[in-house]
Amino acid sequence: MPERRRLRVGVLASGRGSNFAALVAAARAGDMPADVVVLISDRAESGAVALARTEGVEAVVIPPREHPGREAHDKAVTDALEARRVGLVCLAGYMRILGAGFVEHFRGRLLNIHPALLPAFPGLHAQRQALQHGVRVAGATVHFVDEGTDTGPIVLQAAVPVQPEDTEDTLAARILAEEHRIYAEAVRLFAEGRLEIAGRRVRIKEGA
Ligand code: GRF
Repeated sequence: MPERRRLRVGVLASGRGSNFAALVAAARAGDMPADVVVLISDRAESGAVALARTEGVEAVVIPPREHPGREAHDKAVTDALEARRVGLVCLAGYMRILGAGFVEHFRGRLLNIHPALLPAFPGLHAQRQALQHGVRVAGATVHFVDEGTDTGPIVLQAAVPVQPEDTEDTLAARILAEEHRIYAEAVRLFAEGRLEIAGRRVRIKEGA
């Protein structure tokens, strides 16, 4: 069988960068036919940028003040991704809202990780929302990105129990471990060409 070309993945992150690091580790462990080729951040001082430098992944900082306006900033990010021939873009704690043009440009090859069982608790502080609501099961979701906030077709989800003594931090930590696992799994499935979007549903095709 001819070898499939390895997928070039770009990650967008604004914060700590643990999901970015999990994807880098999974790709390097040979878990997926993919390589994380670039980390793009809007914040030079983010943990993600520091991790990229430690890991030897190219880090590109695109500060919003240097590209005023959402469209101009989105365009700079798009250009940086295209220049590196990225086939999949993974949002991993990217704290800027992406415009419709960006979403359209990368439709079907733009993933996000969210720390809740969508469609419950979209938006910010999902773990806090889950605790405040009193759910007994929380979790994480990997989904394709559409124009809404955390509304796109769902690829994978993982459930996590909520314990009576949980704080936002303990629940977030339990969810985070699952985020790292299912994000790497989703990227692997995408890289293997096994994800097919049909309306709101994502079909996972059998492996070879
Ligand atoms: C994660 O909880 C992710 O689900 C959310 O933002 C957080 C990013 O964490 N979108 P990290 O920067 O990957 O550690």
